[in-house]
Amino acid sequence: MEVLHREGLARVGRFKTPHGWIETPTVMPVINPNLIVIDPQKMKQLGATAVITNGYIIRRSPDLNRKATASGVHSLIGFDGPVMTDSGTFQSHVYGSVEYGNQDMVEFQRSIGSDIGTIRDIFSEPWDSHEQAARAVDETFRRVEEIGNTGDMILAGPIQGSIYPDLRKRSAKLMSGSHAGYLPVGGVVPLLESYRYTDLVSIIQASRLNSDPSKPLHLFGAGHPMFLAMSVLMGIDMFDSASYIKYARDSRLLFPDGTRDLAKIVEFPLWSPIYNKYSMQEFLKLDPETRVREIAWHNLTAIFMEIREIRERIAEQTLWQYVEGKSRSHPALFEAFRWICRNAGATLPFHEISRKSPFHFHDRMSFRQPVARRLIRHARNIMESANDIWIIHPEIFSGGDSQDPVLRDIYERTEAQVMFLWNSTPVPIELKDTYPVQQYIGSTRKLPGDFVPVRIRNKTRVIRKADLADILSHERIRDMDMNQVRAIADYQFMPGAGMAIFGMGSTVRVSRSTGRIRTVSESGRILATLRPHDGFFTLSMDGAMKLSATGRERFRVTVTKDSAEYNARGFNVFFKFITSHDPNILAGNETLVCNEAGTPVAVGRATVPGTEIGKYRSGVAIRVNHGTVEEPDA
Ligand code: GUN
Repeated sequence: MEVLHREGLARVGRFKTPHGWIETPTVMPVINPNLIVIDPQKMKQLGATAVITNGYIIRRSPDLNRKATASGVHSLIGFDGPVMTDSGTFQSHVYGSVEYGNQDMVEFQRSIGSDIGTIRDIFSEPWDSHEQAARAVDETFRRVEEIGNTGDMILAGPIQGSIYPDLRKRSAKLMSGSHAGYLPVGGVVPLLESYRYTDLVSIIQASRLNSDPSKPLHLFGAGHPMFLAMSVLMGIDMFDSASYIKYARDSRLLFPDGTRDLAKIVEFPLWSPIYNKYSMQEFLKLDPETRVREIAWHNLTAIFMEIREIRERIAEQTLWQYVEGKSRSHPALFEAFRWICRNAGATLPFHEISRKSPFHFHDRMSFRQPVARRLIRHARNIMESANDIWIIHPEIFSGGDSQDPVLRDIYERTEAQVMFLWNSTPVPIELKDTYPVQQYIGSTRKLPGDFVPVRIRNKTRVIRKADLADILSHERIRDMDMNQVRAIADYQFMPGAGMAIFGMGSTVRVSRSTGRIRTVSESGRILATLRPHDGFFTLSMDGAMKLSATGRERFRVTVTKDSAEYNARGFNVFFKFITSHDPNILAGNETLVCNEAGTPVAVGRATVPGTEIGKYRSGVAIRVNHGTVEEPDA
């Protein structure tokens, strides 16, 4: 997998198959080789880049078998892009045992030219006992291990484990360590059919957090637009869908938020291909075969419309928000969303340091979002270690004009840790310009009457307007800008980083027009620039050297000798040249690029978190901003 855009566990990426690249996330329409209702080649018009069909069905039918063996599965179904094949596991699950073994079924898929072929995994039911499901996980792993070289065909090794997170974790780890290059999450169809989305998100999270991110993660049998965005948010890259045709046969139409019976629809939506072609009366009079085909096309349109929306959302980093809104369309989805919020702590290391789009604050649940959770945890640590805390009452400041001079007037006359209430939760005033504190859209401005004083072990004082006259009568004893830049660096990197990078000799330059901090320098050399859009620092090479001088092996990757020379000249770092790295690196954060001796040669921004560096084999790991050997532009 190569990752192009990301938001936490969600990613827009691509991977290569013998019949071309597949851009993810996407849905593979299921093609029944016995009954092709829509020409698969025509599905490309909607953005379908790959399809899935069934190797077992092909093998079993003498006619299909002969054709596929003679001219390949692509020619059989009439599709020249990537084709995935399934193995008959689902058929044996539904109809009882099937006649073929694992190895010969995989060999058959390879022989007909499948791009992604699947082993005969063991399908666990949601009601299976832990013991039964554990045996199925081990047997499925044994089956992937018994497969030899599959040539060009990518081997799909399903993650099973029923509804037990520990088994999903075990299965994900086993499959990731195997030679399977593609990881479908299996055994979930009964959960999808009964709207058990909470079980599903728990299964997906356990699977994603324990699997190799360089292998695409597929959710078997999930193609309804209603659940796509939530699955992608949890880290699913690929789907397959038979729903477009199954629902069409029942005269049911897919919509982004649910399903409607044809009989109950008054008007077709504007985006529907049916709307452009028929009036309702004409449509109802169509012969059944044409009608099924037209509904199937409508259903595929709904699916790919949703996929496009999801891809755009990841690129602009608003997928969380999208899922938050969408989850309100069905109580089962909302319950699953609440589970995601409650359990988002485990996903924290995967989330970027900031997002391109503002943080939306709706209610207390918004604080469960990883970007807010990280801030609140940091604020709590600061309050716990401070001896003296002042909380500015919202009647003075609640997050509006962060350049209001009254803040400086208060701040510079106390040594206390000054906090303010951001959506009613205390955050350090030094982070007033940093994501998401400044870059947020709130549902309401809190009124003074809504204010609940926060008291921590009697060391907290609330500062109200009435206190200002007394405070202003005191001398200034510290500099707000200097403290602010150090506090941001402590938050961006680690406690103590602020003093290490911005020592006693550093100076802060502020914008004359906005009053905001622009750069921090020492002896005329810039150490760091504060990014206006997210309030975090971009380090210069001098700043990077200072961070490195803390002696703590943090926020760094070590690269091969050849790469170091190249990176020192300002070129990006590729995954394959990284020999070691700090697992705490955050995606989007400043990262030091060091040579084998541990000396920084460049600094840039990580494209993926430290938890994932070392897993990818192709693509850019660090976008380098500065190297020690800066070359003039050619
Ligand atoms: N199709 C739907 N679910 C499954 C599954 O668990 N395994 C396989 N191989 N195919 C499926």
